Amino acid sequence: MVLAFLPVLIYLAGHVTAAPASGTRNAVAACPVLFEGRVAVTTTAADFDKNTSVYSNLYDLGQNQTWAEVLEFPVAPPSLFDLPTASKSFEVTIDDESIFVPGGSEPQVGFRRSELVPAIDLSTNGNARTVQGTTTFHWSIHTDLSRPLNYSHEYHPIWHEYADYSSSQFTITAGVPFSTAKDPNIMLAKSLRVAGLQSNTPETTFFETPFTDSVWHNFALTMGWVDNTITVYYSEGYAPLERVAGPAFNNNTGGGAFHVGLLKEPTGPPGIDVLHQGYQESGINEGLIFGGVFIENSDDGCVTLGL
Ligand SMILES: *[C@@H]1O[C@H](CO)[C@@H](O)[C@H](O)[C@H]1NC(C)=O
Ligand SMILES: *[C@@H]1O[C@H](CO)[C@@H](O)[C@H](O)[C@H]1NC(C)=O
Ligand SMILES: *[C@@H]1O[C@H](CO)[C@@H](O)[C@H](O)[C@H]1NC(C)=O
Ligand SMILES: *[C@@H]1O[C@H](CO)[C@@H](O)[C@H](O)[C@H]1NC(C)=O
Repeated sequence: MVLAFLPVLIYLAGHVTAAPASGTRNAVAACPVLFEGRVAVTTTAADFDKNTSVYSNLYDLGQNQTWAEVLEFPVAPPSLFDLPTASKSFEVTIDDESIFVPGGSEPQVGFRRSELVPAIDLSTNGNARTVQGTTTFHWSIHTDLSRPLNYSHEYHPIWHEYADYSSSQFTITAGVPFSTAKDPNIMLAKSLRVAGLQSNTPETTFFETPFTDSVWHNFALTMGWVDNTITVYYSEGYAPLERVAGPAFNNNTGGGAFHVGLLKEPTGPPGIDVLHQGYQESGINEGLIFGGVFIENSDDGCVTLGL
């Protein structure tokens, strides 16, 4: 209960020192928001199936699923960047039906996946403002004890995928790596890792932290799209973000889109086609809780570290 009140206090303290810009939900944060992915407290899961959603209502989820089936609103304390009166966390789940079928392609039976993608970043999105100059991607992530992951598999809760889908500039990974060639240094399966350009072997792991239960893990990644840099910020609970890695070189070519949700890789021998082969146990009911999702303009070095 004490924790539940803490963000309110921070919010009020913020009001004292910073005049809120009227009409913006990000009232006490200083940097211009390019994509507002925080979910209003009145939003229902079915609202995500409408084309008015700030996230794509079409991608990426199981062929025969709706967002109303995939999304939950568990009772959880607000995340660092969710003002309790304005926005709430949401949970993205996967089950046996979470099989995505890209247009004109074979069903991706190797994966189970449900991810929200900003609606602004769809299709011919190389010109989206979120992949120009310098931008910072924010999210908080929390386990759900009632829908645990199986850390014998590799998961991707967050990534930024090329516009042509051929690689990703960064990927947050969890679980046992599918390929030790890709991630030779991961010792703890139940951890969250920030990996750089996916087409590198091995990938560069910029940061790793235990994925402990019952606490929010807050991340921000500042991406220099022109100078090819990545900077990682992290905190737990309601502590302000702190820089934990970078700025470091990362080849940030490729444009594309931010993915927020859950992709579960199969297990199986190295070299298989993970999209279409490998092992997935049946009867799964897994999920991750997200809050405080937004992308801000960091051209002038501005990064929101706390409210
Ligand atoms: C959005 O959905 C509404 C109702 O389902 C439909 O009438 C409208 O044409 C859609 N707009 C776009 C741009 O797809
Ligand atoms: C979706 O439903 C159709 C019709 O029942 C079925 O043919 C198809 O295999 C299903 N897709 C997936 C990915 O389960
Ligand atoms: C976790 O995944 C492994 C590897 O696929 C599988 O053998 C095991 O049965 C799974 N555990 C549960 C509880 O589903
Ligand atoms: C980044 O990768 C692209 C595509 O592989 C390549 O053309 C470019 O030279 C690389 N940029 C840097 C700075 O390494």
